[in-house]
Amino acid sequence: MVAAVPTDLAEARRRHDELSRTVRDARYRYYVLSDPPMTDAEFDALFQQLVALEDAHPALVTSNSPTQQVGAPVDTAFAPFRHLQPMLSLDNAFSREELEAWAQRVERGLHADDRLAYVCELKIDGVAINLVYRDGVLTTAATRGDGTVGEDVTAQVATIDAVPYRLAADDPPAVLEVRGEVYYPLEAFEAMNAARIERGEEAFMNPRNAASGALRQKDPEVTRQRPLSVWCHGFGVLEGASFATYSGALDWMRAAGLPVADETRVVGSVEEVWDFVERWTTARHDVAYEIDGVVVKVDALAQREELGFTARAPRWAIAYKMPPVEQETTLERIEVNIGRTGKATPYAVLEPVVVAGTRITYATLHNEIQIHAKDVREGDRVMIRRAGDVIPEVVGPVLTKRQPEATVWHMPADCPFCGQPLVRPEGEAHHFCENVDCPNRLLESLAHLASRGALDIEGLGEQSVELLVAKGLVGDLADVFRLAERRDELLALEKWGTKRVDNLLAGIEAAKQRPLERVLVALNIRHLGPTYAKLLARHLGSLDAIRAATPEQLEAIEGIGPTIAAAVHAWFATPRNAQLIDELVGLGITTEAERAGGDVDVDAELLAGWTLVVTGTLEGFTRDEVKDALEARGAKVTGSVSKRTRAVVAGESPGSKLAKAEDLGVPVLDETGLRHLLETGELPA
Ligand code: IVH
Repeated sequence: MVAAVPTDLAEARRRHDELSRTVRDARYRYYVLSDPPMTDAEFDALFQQLVALEDAHPALVTSNSPTQQVGAPVDTAFAPFRHLQPMLSLDNAFSREELEAWAQRVERGLHADDRLAYVCELKIDGVAINLVYRDGVLTTAATRGDGTVGEDVTAQVATIDAVPYRLAADDPPAVLEVRGEVYYPLEAFEAMNAARIERGEEAFMNPRNAASGALRQKDPEVTRQRPLSVWCHGFGVLEGASFATYSGALDWMRAAGLPVADETRVVGSVEEVWDFVERWTTARHDVAYEIDGVVVKVDALAQREELGFTARAPRWAIAYKMPPVEQETTLERIEVNIGRTGKATPYAVLEPVVVAGTRITYATLHNEIQIHAKDVREGDRVMIRRAGDVIPEVVGPVLTKRQPEATVWHMPADCPFCGQPLVRPEGEAHHFCENVDCPNRLLESLAHLASRGALDIEGLGEQSVELLVAKGLVGDLADVFRLAERRDELLALEKWGTKRVDNLLAGIEAAKQRPLERVLVALNIRHLGPTYAKLLARHLGSLDAIRAATPEQLEAIEGIGPTIAAAVHAWFATPRNAQLIDELVGLGITTEAERAGGDVDVDAELLAGWTLVVTGTLEGFTRDEVKDALEARGAKVTGSVSKRTRAVVAGESPGSKLAKAEDLGVPVLDETGLRHLLETGELPA
């Protein structure tokens, strides 16, 4: 499963960079956009490759590596909440051997004569949650976010019956962070989806997505309508109580009214752990919620302390991932969708089949090459796989059941939506419809423009987009920003009252203020996801500069490779796009990047533990901007220089603080030094 690790460091670094980008982008799309670009199994495989590269070449481990981070950036729709203790992730094991290797590492990490007990739990495929209880009262509930800062969803969690507002304990701890998983019970999930299908609405892909969607409803009354529940599986900060074992803590939590799963067992050997794994792999559908593995944890808290953590995960726990679930069904036909960048994606239309609790009718086939590699044909019986995945996948045909008349499938010559030829550029795996005005491409582009990761226009969902296009109110992206001039026509739409129209127009107006990187994402440029869009915005500073940049200038930006450089340049060089940009600019879209310290993706831990002092005036930043930029990276900014000050940022006319710093031997940074620190987390050499 893991590709060979290059021995040459330069080659390893190149591969590491590439994988890091893919993994980061996938996380963002999974957590923030709820639109994962690959299956969980594929993600796990890529992630394991990163780990293998870093094991072979420790020089590749930096605080920026995805292996040192968990989760994804926080959505701005909810207030940020800094967890009292970070919410880490778990390392994975995919086989008995890997599980045993972990147990051996645990044993080696402890004194030889220590007795070892493991707690085995089901791994719930839900949404991680942190519940903060102060003096026994729930004060905050937050999603994991990037592990350090999550989204405050207290109002939403308060609607979940299983979560007690007050703990049933006489002498509750002063502070207790309870860690758990919010899930959507399977039966309710299926009933809800059936009702949605009945009403002609789109069904949720799986319970995890449904839980995440329900939890992140801005209106908690909507969350209340969903039968969400929670299982608790750990704790963070614990003040005013102590336990010797995790199982003891779980017993206490259960008695205090917190939901703790009954399936949890304490065992004394790795053989018994494996028994638990085997039993639940067979019985995974016997529980009322979706599981995707077993989590094994060292029980004694003193032993946990001895074992400690890596940057990403505790050494005292491991997640065994169950093999992905497969089902057989008939592939009725292969159809082609044209996406927002013109990419043609073939997909399988299936005889509906339920896999791991989810009804599946479509499965992606990625591209023609994949279809030929797997040799799947229309009419075949095929295996469908989904491992708590969001995008189900065709594993391959059941060849023994193939009908003699089944023929090899080929990509149609022409776009099924506009009839223009589909082309496969040199070196690309995908075909594309190059017609900028292709009707399906337009619909997808508009829906993407309005989506959360792009301009986040409330009220402009897929159905509204379809209606607006069908009624001739919108013919390209710029027309969205002209809708205000056509308010009367909007009001004439069936079932669109004044409130809906005015909300939409207000949403569109607000979208003009989104930061430049979101505008770039909204343009539907091939390969340009949020990570790269941020790089462009941050390094080039304005739409004009990005537009004018040559491929060489784009490629000179650290992190931008030739493919993206070429795609960006080609997009802006297309006359139809250039015209679109002129129109969008004329309509008031953001054209300048925010200054440092603004909403760029910063590593909130980059300067954790640093105390800095700022003095004097800088050219490129106001004092507040410097402070914001430093604090956004976890640093503390204070007013006076002491021995604990790690560095002083000094501009023009610095005053006595500079003298004090020099006295104490505290490093002094000018503006270039500050920029270096903000970028790298290190003092300039
Ligand atoms: S313990 C220090 N126990 O799986 C990490 N996690 O893949 C503590 N999960 O982030 C996590 N069931 O959100 C733990 N029984 C369980 C779990 C569980 C599901 C989730 C959790 C974690 C993720 C890691």
